[in-house]
Amino acid sequence: MKGIILAGGSGTRLLPLTLSTSKQLLPVYDKPMAYYPLSVLMLAGIREILVISTPGSVPALRALFGDGAHLGLDVSYAEQAEPRGIADAFLIGAAHITGSDSALVLGDNIFHGAGFGNLLRKTREELDGCALFGYPVSDPERYGIAEVDETGRLLSIEEKPEKPRAANAVTGLYFYDPDVVEVARGIRPSARGELEITDVNRAYLAAGRARVTTLGRGFTWLDAGTHQSLLEASQYVQVLENRQGVRVACIEEIALRMGFISPEECYALGRKMEKSAYGHYVMEVARAIGDRS
Ligand code: DAU
Repeated sequence: MKGIILAGGSGTRLLPLTLSTSKQLLPVYDKPMAYYPLSVLMLAGIREILVISTPGSVPALRALFGDGAHLGLDVSYAEQAEPRGIADAFLIGAAHITGSDSALVLGDNIFHGAGFGNLLRKTREELDGCALFGYPVSDPERYGIAEVDETGRLLSIEEKPEKPRAANAVTGLYFYDPDVVEVARGIRPSARGELEITDVNRAYLAAGRARVTTLGRGFTWLDAGTHQSLLEASQYVQVLENRQGVRVACIEEIALRMGFISPEECYALGRKMEKSAYGHYVMEVARAIGDRS
């Protein structure tokens, strides 16, 4: 399975924070926002990842992740000149996908919960068409909304409905079979001029090949697209990390635990950041796992 992080958009709801930098590089407590979606793909066991962003932001994202080799990944980059819609990721990423299943994650989505890695890997194994992840919300008119039967089959999907039929928001994480490129090529821009991911999902629904895993109470899903939600995401991560002594979306730790890198390689990554508490944590995790193996 191939991964795509869509990290474009103009970030206008975060101005003036985004005047000189991209939204996905802003901090969510102790790490750049883009670490969170990358960690999701890594937990799913995906190592070949395309990062799509604006021409102005690609250089900074490349400086952040490089070619990914230090994390045991293969990271490449592509530009999206205009925000033509989330489904545009499959037109830009067609050559990257080339006949594989793929997972798309939005660059401002943050997921956290016990057993998330196992859930992702199971969803990946059972994929037949399209797999979405739902999350109950109190403001459904702000999201794509899915109606789902008790077996997890998608019954209807609407983008930002005025009168929502359900409160199950479709999160910014999508798994597809290789047909998604053709499906995305077949949809037309919406009234707001975008290739809507909801229209892609509707095509899978029409073919009876769309399923939804609803993330229950034990999970947290946040997007960090406004000043308030960005601060709330930072506060959430800070409270959790300080209370539990573990880090959320620590990509070096995930690379180690997934077997993408060795304890020695992980330790060396931490050492480069040893003046920060984050770097210390990476060194400690590497030492603890190295001692056990
Ligand atoms: O966050 C989940 C929601 O994401 C879903 O429930 C909706 O169904 C889905 O349409 C999307 O809604 P948003 O209103 O959040 O979409 P937005 O246009 O804000 O784009 C989400 C992220 O994707 C944002 O960080 C910018 C990036 N993006 C968006 C577009 C349209 C791009 O990089 N390029 C684009 O062309």
